[in-house]
Amino acid sequence: MDITVISQPLAQVDAGALAVIVFENTSVTGDHAIAADQASGGWITELFTSGEFTGKALETAVLARPAGLAAKKLVAIGGGKLDTFSTVEMRRIAGALVRLLKPKKSGTLALAIDAAHATIEMASAATEGAILGDFETDQYKTDPKKNDAKVTAFSLVTAASDAITAGVARGRILAESQNFTRDLVNEPGNKLTPTVLAERAKLMAAEVGLECDVLGPDRMKQLGMGALLGVSIGSAEPPAMIVIQYKPEKPSDANVHLGLVGKGVTFDTGGISIKPSEGMEKMKYDMAGGASVLGAMRALALLKPPIPVTFVIPTVENMPGSKAQRPGDIVTTMNGKTVEVLNTDAEGRLILCDALEYAKRLGCTHLVDTATLTGAIVVALGYINVGVFANDEAFRGRLLESARAEGEKMWAMPIDEDYKELLKSPFADMANIGGRWGGAISAAMFLKEFADPVPWIHLDIAGTAWLEENKPFMAKGPSGVGVRTFVSLAMNWK
Ligand code: BES
Ligand code: MN
Ligand code: ZN
Repeated sequence: MDITVISQPLAQVDAGALAVIVFENTSVTGDHAIAADQASGGWITELFTSGEFTGKALETAVLARPAGLAAKKLVAIGGGKLDTFSTVEMRRIAGALVRLLKPKKSGTLALAIDAAHATIEMASAATEGAILGDFETDQYKTDPKKNDAKVTAFSLVTAASDAITAGVARGRILAESQNFTRDLVNEPGNKLTPTVLAERAKLMAAEVGLECDVLGPDRMKQLGMGALLGVSIGSAEPPAMIVIQYKPEKPSDANVHLGLVGKGVTFDTGGISIKPSEGMEKMKYDMAGGASVLGAMRALALLKPPIPVTFVIPTVENMPGSKAQRPGDIVTTMNGKTVEVLNTDAEGRLILCDALEYAKRLGCTHLVDTATLTGAIVVALGYINVGVFANDEAFRGRLLESARAEGEKMWAMPIDEDYKELLKSPFADMANIGGRWGGAISAAMFLKEFADPVPWIHLDIAGTAWLEENKPFMAKGPSGVGVRTFVSLAMNWK
């Protein structure tokens, strides 16, 4: 989708559809909404008085062939309350417009940005929203007609400025990186094996000028990654550890090296502790953490943060079979601790513990891991918030601040030492599961044993990496959650 800037009076904007944001109020507010109202002979005022439109966020009304305007359609879209209007609403508005107009074959779409909102952040959010909204999960559908429904160009109607140009460029990078993540997550298990994921990572790294190191089973054995290897052993597909490093020319802080680690289980059957068949197809998304780390890698390689960032994605397929790991097996992790595998379906933590240790060996001073780790986090937080666990409050504060600014909902969860009890094993240093209650916390506690003493944050994205329903601004399916927060965390590191 082309993204352009149109610096013309509203009435002259020649687009398939022209949209103005109308805020919740007793009368029409916002410079462009007022101009559109006047040009259209009071259409928006009429919407307000009839009560069919109040300006509530994402409410829409469409007027065909508006007299007084060059555009073929005029769209009023609700902005919510003007005083709380932020990039979060702007991103959603742009996405909702694209999704509303795509099936109507409007061709070009222009969104008027009020002068008060003509900032780099808003231009970025609008661009992002449009490209995110355009994403579909129909890549394996062969119907050629599916391509007819599209918005060919998305334009921001606003005075041209360096800020707007920079915002559009940034928004495009961010959105295309999230869509890269979403595309990977959408791939079924037969198409995206660990080897293929590593190939896709290599290609993307090369495209953005970074080197990509892929560790295979031989190097893993040399390094003693017994936990990761134990998970992968039941599958005919070999495991891989994808490692990509970004180094700034002049680091802003010589003592910081951020490590982003993402769970890359390309399909999770549960292994010998096999999952129920109902809904198992969704487990192709069990590499969403790894995919969001790769999306962040793409964006950061292009945006160039002031600190070094290392991206580590352990990737395996969790399968049952005659070679598969058994409940009761004891594995030795890379850091030397032994683990009794009581449930082969608690495999995420087993691959992440070796990846965290590897990231530490590479010199990371701050670690963030992201994983579709537990069904328990879905019980706790539903599909709305990412569960955030950390061993360092200041670091967690930084991440939550980035998440808030980027409109990615995240919620701090407890992780005190009392939960460690749950992981006791009579036969090994720890067990890989902690019993029925507080399952997301015992999983985090397991990882903490491997991250300590390095400042570390664990994100459980099992409830948020996949949208169960279509949103007005985004298609059902992979959400790409985490990418924006990671990018903001690294870019804003002072
Ligand atoms: N990939 C799953 C987590 C998951 C489960 C995400 C259900 C979404 C829905 C993970 O590997 C897993 O199987 N976790 C188990 C852990 C249990 C065996 C301690 C779970 O949550 O059931
Ligand atoms: Mn599992
Ligand atoms: Zn899993």
